[in-house]
Amino acid sequence: MTRQSLNCLAIVLAAGEGTRMKSDRPKVMHEIAGRPMLGHVLAAVAASGAGSRAVVVGPGHDAAAALAREAGAEVFVQAERRGTAHAVLAAREALAAAPDVVVVAFGDTPLVSPATFGRLIAAIRDGAAVAALGFTAEDPTGYGRLVEAGGELVAIREHRDASEEERAIRLCNAGLMALDGRRALALLEGIGSTNSQGEFYLTDVVEVARRQGLKAVALVTDEAEVQGVNDRVQLARAEATLQARLREAAMRGGATLIAPETVFFSHDTVLGRDVLVEPHVVFGPAVIVGDGATIHAFSHLAGAVVESGASVGPYGRLRPGAVLRSGAKVGNFVEVKNAEIGPGAKLPHLSYVGDASVGPKANVGAGTITCNYDGFNKSRTVIGEGAFVGSNSSLVAPVTIGAGAMVGSGSVITDDVPDDALALGRGRQAIKPGWAAAFRARPENQKKKK
Ligand code: UD1
Ligand code: CA
Repeated sequence: MTRQSLNCLAIVLAAGEGTRMKSDRPKVMHEIAGRPMLGHVLAAVAASGAGSRAVVVGPGHDAAAALAREAGAEVFVQAERRGTAHAVLAAREALAAAPDVVVVAFGDTPLVSPATFGRLIAAIRDGAAVAALGFTAEDPTGYGRLVEAGGELVAIREHRDASEEERAIRLCNAGLMALDGRRALALLEGIGSTNSQGEFYLTDVVEVARRQGLKAVALVTDEAEVQGVNDRVQLARAEATLQARLREAAMRGGATLIAPETVFFSHDTVLGRDVLVEPHVVFGPAVIVGDGATIHAFSHLAGAVVESGASVGPYGRLRPGAVLRSGAKVGNFVEVKNAEIGPGAKLPHLSYVGDASVGPKANVGAGTITCNYDGFNKSRTVIGEGAFVGSNSSLVAPVTIGAGAMVGSGSVITDDVPDDALALGRGRQAIKPGWAAAFRARPENQKKKK
């Protein structure tokens, strides 16, 4: 059987109360790299080849249930928390379909790679009834221990139920497992609750399997990959681990990060070849940067496309719907939202351009603002090809500046400007010769002067 031909069900346990998060959100909905932990786990199990997915949530965890459904998973509710085996059995209906392999993942253990899930699946394909994932813990206190003999897994003993001798074992249980899918339901139903907690432990599936003469094995991975999140300190630790991975992937993919530890990615950031990212840049969700583009220091991008050779910042802000065509330049203290900036167009300094399109090679001077919102409606501004907007102009949308047109600086533009015209929308300058000197010479002003 190849892995592809295996019919694999992943069950993600997400019924944790998450009380240590001190949050109104279910724990698994807290985000790392811009995506809820549950989203990371669902993506990883799907990428490992789990064709069907089930998520076990706690009562009232509507947001987690909605995310699971959106990701194509079936949702089951564990009404009462009675242990990890009890939680898996909440998805009984999915188990009853007798898949070839069942993978159990935890929603609060978000960094496990598809390859690692794949190793667990392969162990079942190769004949084990149970495959558990282990790691060598820096401090094993609190974890279940993997008890091995003769190259096989004999038992998993919870810390609180372990003997002195078992506690000396440093190989710990990460919690994740794969089971022979045709036997899973029967094995899980064989688990009792005769432990110090009175819970149904998934870990006891190892001994149940061995009593039936079936084989259990342990696979080993890094502690960092299986780190769990119970509080916000651990959430920040998981974020740091994931950011380190994303930075490395960006650099291996051909981007230069001058100070990688200061650049923050979203899980879905896409960078082309020869992209340069200067220090202190934050990527929110859904950003695509094309080949040879430059993101200068202290910029913040989200929901934006930066095409090849374009540049942003320093101190640039691209909000959702910003599209910079090739060679466009968005300079310092410029915010762009829901706007297409044409090829070679320049917004060098201090502008807000929202709900707009800026034509190829147009030049938008410092301090230009598109006035896109009247308190009720958003309206569009169109700036034509090669147009020149003088500094400190307000473009009151809806309005169109024609191709090749010019706008005098300091204008407030409320009417469309035809192609190649000049528009001036400001008070005319007056000159009063000698007025200032006469003003200073007035007796009352002389008295006040020291
Ligand atoms: C579990 C393992 C332990 C392992 C550790 C790794 C068991 C019995 N023990 O212990 O060997 O070293 O993980 O972190 O499996 N959950 C439910 N419903 C329940 C109970 C748990 O959905 O009734 C979910 C939790 O939300 C969590 C996961 O299962 O995502 C693990 O449960 P948790 O209580 O954290 O298990 P540990 O005691 O940490
Ligand atoms: Ca735990």
